[in-house]
Amino acid sequence: MRLDKLLSECGVASRKESARAVRAGQVSVNGFPVRTADVQVDPDADRIIYCGRKVLWRKFVYVMLNKPDGYVSATEDGRGERVVTELLPEEYRKRGLFPCGRLDKHTLGLMLLTDDGQLSHRLLSPKRHVAKSYAFHVKFPLSEDDITSLESGVDIGGYTTKPCTVALENEREGIITITEGKYHQIKLMMEAVHNQITYLERRTFGPLSLDPALARGEWRELTEGEIELLNQS
Ligand code: URA
Repeated sequence: MRLDKLLSECGVASRKESARAVRAGQVSVNGFPVRTADVQVDPDADRIIYCGRKVLWRKFVYVMLNKPDGYVSATEDGRGERVVTELLPEEYRKRGLFPCGRLDKHTLGLMLLTDDGQLSHRLLSPKRHVAKSYAFHVKFPLSEDDITSLESGVDIGGYTTKPCTVALENEREGIITITEGKYHQIKLMMEAVHNQITYLERRTFGPLSLDPALARGEWRELTEGEIELLNQS
């Protein structure tokens, strides 16, 4: 693989920046400064140093973010809204990380961002029934009948939701677990039982659980174990 391609795919430098750094003698491969940015390198075996920093090659990157209120699930927004990728360092944005699925602007919690398009596609496929659980608060008390309706399926604008589970912590708070991802699904499900969501936080997504050490707006890369679980799911 070409050195400048590798540096740009890692989000370290554009091809132009790489050429400039090479000319300035700031790029070395296995201890030797390189003369041209188009030299062939083996990303798995060669030790590449760019401006004093070791370049870490990974085919894909997976990030868990604790989404704060007020951010939209996108990489850019033409209407001046804040987007979740703004919360990541520039090198991740340069790599082209995008949110795997959407959370509404006011929904909080677990969001996966990656540049692995295939994995993202698989996790979001309606055929896979990947479970997602959300902590919720609603405006009015939920009755036994409401829970039965929600769990067996309610009409949200002409679509009947698939069976789900609702575990109440008290009459206005609980955890709902769904295996699909229609637009505004939980908000609309609560509206179908004449109620209203006042708080929504995603706690799990497939095998991933929101890391309690992450404050709102904080992120970390997934562990090897978490990536393996995602690939198996
Ligand atoms: N359901 C919703 O209504 N909103 C979300 O953000 C996620 C699920």
